Amino acid sequence: MSVKTYPVLKPAKQRALIDNATYLKWYKQSVADPEAFWGEHGKRIDWFKPYTKVKNTSFEGKVSIKWFEDGLTNVSYNCIDRHLEKRGDQVAIIWEGDNPYDDRKITYRELYEHVCRLANVLKANGVKKGDRVTIYMPMIPEAAYAMLACTRIGAVHSIVFGGFSPDALAGRIVDCQSTFVITADEGLRGGRTIPLKANTDQAIDIAKRDGVEVKSVLVVRRTAGKIHWFAERDIWYHQAVATVKADCPPAKMKAEDPLFILYTSGSTGKPKGVLHTTGGYLVYASMTHQYVFDYHDGDIYWCTADVGWVTGHSYIVYGPLANGATTLMFEGVPTYPDAGRFWDVVDKHKVNIFYTAPTAIRALMGQGDALVTRSSRKSLRILGSVGEPINPEAWEWYYHTVGEGRCPIVDTWWQTETGGILITPLPGATALKPGSATRPFFGVQPQLVDAEGKVIDGAADGNLCIIDSWPGQMRTVYGDHERFIQTYFSTYKGKYFTGDGCRRDEDGYYWITGRVDDVLNVSGHRMGTAEVESALVSHDAVSEAAVVGYPHDIKGQGIYSYVTLMVGQQGTEELRKELISHVRKEIGAIASPDKIQFAPGLPKTRSGKIMRRILRKIAEDDYGALGDTSTLADPTVVDDLIANRQNRK
Ligand code: WTA
Repeated sequence: MSVKTYPVLKPAKQRALIDNATYLKWYKQSVADPEAFWGEHGKRIDWFKPYTKVKNTSFEGKVSIKWFEDGLTNVSYNCIDRHLEKRGDQVAIIWEGDNPYDDRKITYRELYEHVCRLANVLKANGVKKGDRVTIYMPMIPEAAYAMLACTRIGAVHSIVFGGFSPDALAGRIVDCQSTFVITADEGLRGGRTIPLKANTDQAIDIAKRDGVEVKSVLVVRRTAGKIHWFAERDIWYHQAVATVKADCPPAKMKAEDPLFILYTSGSTGKPKGVLHTTGGYLVYASMTHQYVFDYHDGDIYWCTADVGWVTGHSYIVYGPLANGATTLMFEGVPTYPDAGRFWDVVDKHKVNIFYTAPTAIRALMGQGDALVTRSSRKSLRILGSVGEPINPEAWEWYYHTVGEGRCPIVDTWWQTETGGILITPLPGATALKPGSATRPFFGVQPQLVDAEGKVIDGAADGNLCIIDSWPGQMRTVYGDHERFIQTYFSTYKGKYFTGDGCRRDEDGYYWITGRVDDVLNVSGHRMGTAEVESALVSHDAVSEAAVVGYPHDIKGQGIYSYVTLMVGQQGTEELRKELISHVRKEIGAIASPDKIQFAPGLPKTRSGKIMRRILRKIAEDDYGALGDTSTLADPTVVDDLIANRQNRK
């Protein structure tokens, strides 16, 4: 296959921060002497007490990761206070509401006051350093205030995506024993309301049964919709912030004090609480934000993610604000009022840097070019992509139609666990190949290994590991360090295993091929097959379920479920619908199965292990290549599965 290469484009008008020679030089230094490199770049944030130790990390044995460990700093101070003198009146957050006539601009000085007041409300309600605060919010500025207010007093936030169900919210509240929740009456997306407070009420009941009692719920009024009110527990945000002081000193935090927990799916069991800490995370998020997006003072920057995901943490809030940027926060969806909304917003706010997900690009691509070309997009300088591999067709459309061939695309590969971008082009330095995340960021050392762990050099396919630490790396699984070691450092001893497959080409470029474990990537959202399976089997009619991914034009991967029913149950259309809504209720709409096939039997080995390889092939409509089925306990189940497959064209 011939791969097209696009030469380095100089990002329009401004001088790019990094050229290729600088990239190569810095990269070499960063891996030859990480102490010296990060010792220097750690200074990009302000420290109350400077660090003297830079790196103290080991991927062996108990696995311990510490960066800048004797330094003292504060994240909200770095994201707000230190900018006040120079850019107090500069807009920090542009908020674009779901309704195109609804927007707000918040300056750094206003941000300071909002965050201090909220921090004082937290304190007044007994929240202390180290306490976990759950944030379950729509995309409104108060979500960012809530994050920053936690960091101001050293509380640890755990954001739960607003699309998750009460059950999923409860599980996360219980896991981190969080007794303070910040939410809104309702969310608003695409003209539809989301009952966040009602979900929270339900989640609190479930959590209570599981032993964790939420003491306070702070409620932002977003829609003024009708909600239940529990006076002993619920607090109106607008009333509470009016009664406290507008100043709150930032807590002096150790670099390794916990900053936030974010739950993410793995191949087994319940979602894990990925724990990030203070100093290293902020250094890494801000540095990658600056160089990957070639961020210059005055740029208007827009990342379309939700703060419920890691991309929202690092590249809507922490990275941009630490750099004194103007960051745009969008409440709505790409297709409301119509599929030209993104480009209208780009024109309305003169966005220079735009960062979104391949699934959105594919969906908009299908709506025709006229919705793009009705906008000018003159302000755009850099385009970014994240969350899943971007297929070359979508890349080309993004580059030529959206970017008119003048904006470099940064295809950024990273994970919740990595805290920030690890493999990416740098605008002005990297020649682009559509579909490749290209080269490692400074300090990042990728390695490909085969199934046995043998290192593969040169151009080849393998499993992607990272062999040394970088400051943004997660430090542990909250409350379960053993699971951290097991999940990431035991498959290949002494290496961080990403769970992704990857190809390296003859130019040393990396091409992520997708997960090699039982994790799905549905519209850029991570989903454990085990989670969907356990939601399905929790339904009374289901005896067994197996879930695999299959190629989906818009979502990247769709969710294909094989379901074996209890004796006496009929696989009707009605039951199919009921199972889908059951999964939505258990996890959330993002986990809705796209296909459900009722299967009287699943292909199992004689020892009872489900052969997912076969299920994947059938779901992919590739049943001509099932491979060896002779080890199956009952090979005839395969014929039945093929005869009844759901993908039939
Ligand atoms: C996938 C999102 C290809 C990958 C930041 C990874 C990507 C998982 C890319 C992490 C990309 C993310 N190209 N694949 N540019 N970015 N992925 O934790 O499989 O939600 O392991 O973090 O998304 O998803 P997560």
